[in-house]
Amino acid sequence: MTTDTTPTGLDALAAVERDARAGLAAAEDEPALEAWRTTVLGRSGALTGILRGIGALEADERKAVGQAANALKQDLEAALDARRAQLKAAALAGAEPIDVTLPGRPRRIGRLHPVTQTMRHILDILQRLGFAVIEGPEVELDEYNFDQLRIPKDHPARDMWDTFWIAEQEGRQGPRQTLLRTHTSPMQIRYLETHEPPIRVAVPGRCYRYEATDATHEWMLQQVELLAIDEGISLADLKGTLHEFARQVFDADTEVMLRNSYFPFVEPGVELAVKFRGQWLEIMGAGMVHPEIIEAAGYDPTRYTGFAAGMGVERIAMPLYQVDDIRNFYQNDLRFLSQF
Ligand code: DAH
Repeated sequence: MTTDTTPTGLDALAAVERDARAGLAAAEDEPALEAWRTTVLGRSGALTGILRGIGALEADERKAVGQAANALKQDLEAALDARRAQLKAAALAGAEPIDVTLPGRPRRIGRLHPVTQTMRHILDILQRLGFAVIEGPEVELDEYNFDQLRIPKDHPARDMWDTFWIAEQEGRQGPRQTLLRTHTSPMQIRYLETHEPPIRVAVPGRCYRYEATDATHEWMLQQVELLAIDEGISLADLKGTLHEFARQVFDADTEVMLRNSYFPFVEPGVELAVKFRGQWLEIMGAGMVHPEIIEAAGYDPTRYTGFAAGMGVERIAMPLYQVDDIRNFYQNDLRFLSQF
């Protein structure tokens, strides 16, 4: 008979098991399960305490308690998994059932902006007419945007383009005045600096003007510049190209008119207007490249001639999509944009 009154290892184990099973049954959610795991199976948990104390027991008891404790540990781990699965199943059973017969929600499909569609339409036609598409900088030098296009400082023609000026930049030859380009025409000069005739290029891009907006003017606009330089290009080539372009860009029954105009970098200058809602809407300026520009680029203007044009992409989009106020294009109103 033993006179020992402290609980034997096996008794202690039985007590741990009883508490643990009661605790597990009472755990109703994941945080409770986790707390239970820490107190029972964790490193300073009850069961771990017993396993650690085994070394101090009598040899025969050590073996029995050790085996029982390890078996209990595995049992309790399995019980934890089972309880977790049970709670999950209960949660799912309480959730609203999925109705697989409900129709799907339609997704909103993105589409191209009408000005982007117009730009692609324009460039498609121009490429088929033989123009290569190139691009240039939106932040431009004063010299390219104005001076070299024969618009010197203090010349009244500068008033045709109200300008967003940018702080002077330090260039290799001293300070240089920069601006947001007011048109794509500076690319005529840049392209001529590095390419020889025959030249046929189209230059799409954004332009900026510091001016009040109205139904036909925006402070940001997109243009496509055309430049064609070769031997023997005449005004008839310009007229033919513009008429063919207009015929392809609009419906066959759209009325267009070529009329006299003035731009400092061409001589003579013309503009193309389209009849829209009973009025003539100017869609591009054009003309024969001024001989001084050809000469400044290093070519003999009696041998090389050419034409240039600059079209407003939004102005072309207006009759194309029947939009009577240019400001609609950039207000990002989905009620407007989703119509195209
Ligand atoms: N750059 C002019 C503008 O923005 C349009 C223009 C007129 C371009 C005549 C040309 C041209 O190439 O020849 O108002």
